Amino acid sequence: MSAKNLWEQQRLANPGHSAWYISRFQEMRAEGRDLHGEARLVDAMLPRKSRILDAGCGPGRVGGELARHGHDVVGVDLDDELIAAAQQDHPMVDWRVGDLAELDLPQHRFDLIVCAGNVMTFLAPGTAPGVLTRFCAHLADNGRIVVGFGTNRGYEREQFSEDVIAAGLVETNAFSTWDLRPFTAESDFLVSFLEPAARY
Ligand SMILES: C[S@@+](CC[C@H](N)C(=O)[O-])C[C@H]1O[C@@H](n2cnc3c(N)ncnc32)[C@H](O)[C@@H]1O
Repeated sequence: MSAKNLWEQQRLANPGHSAWYISRFQEMRAEGRDLHGEARLVDAMLPRKSRILDAGCGPGRVGGELARHGHDVVGVDLDDELIAAAQQDHPMVDWRVGDLAELDLPQHRFDLIVCAGNVMTFLAPGTAPGVLTRFCAHLADNGRIVVGFGTNRGYEREQFSEDVIAAGLVETNAFSTWDLRPFTAESDFLVSFLEPAARY
C-alpha cells in the first residue's frame, strides 16, 4: 500500500478518525437522514441477485443496503476499523481489507462496481489509473462501473477523464448527483458511468 494514501494519512494524524467517521453516519441514520441515494441508483441498474463490488466501502453504508435488496456484494477497503464496523452492521456481505490499487479477486467478476463517497479523492496521488484498471479487470461481460466524487477536492474532473482513458475505459454518461441531475460547468460533484472502451 502506498504511504501517501490520503485516508491513511488522516488516520495517522488522528487515530480517532475512523471512529469519528463511523459515528457520524450512525448519528445521521438516527436522525432519519437519507443515506441510500447511491444504493437506489445502483439497484435500479441491475436485476435481482447481481454481483456488486463496493469499492472503498468504508463502514458498508452502500454495500449493506444493496445486500438488503438481494444482491451478492463484496466490499473492499483499506481501513480495518471501517471493515470491522461493516462486518458488525452488515454480516451478510463479504467485507475485505484490501488496497484497490492491488485489487485481485480471481473468483469474482462483477455486474457493477460502485465507488461512492469520494474514494477517488483519497487515493494516493497517481494511483487512480491503476485503480480504474483493476476495476476494469474485475468486470463481468456487460459489467459497468459507477464512480462518484467531489471535483473540488484536489482530484479534478479533467484528471479523472485522462485516467479513465489510461485505464482502457470510456465514460458513457456523467451526472452531478446520484439522482441524475445534469453535469454542467458549475458542477462540483461527478457521478460517472464507465465501461471498457473495447466494447465501443
Ligand atoms: C470518505 S470514505 C467513503 C466510504 C464509503 N464509500 C462511504 O460512502 O461511506 C473513503 C474511503 O476510501 C477508502 N480508500 C481510500 N483509498 C483506498 C484504497 N487505495 N483502497 C481501498 N480503500 C481506499 C478509505 O479507507 C475510506 O474508507
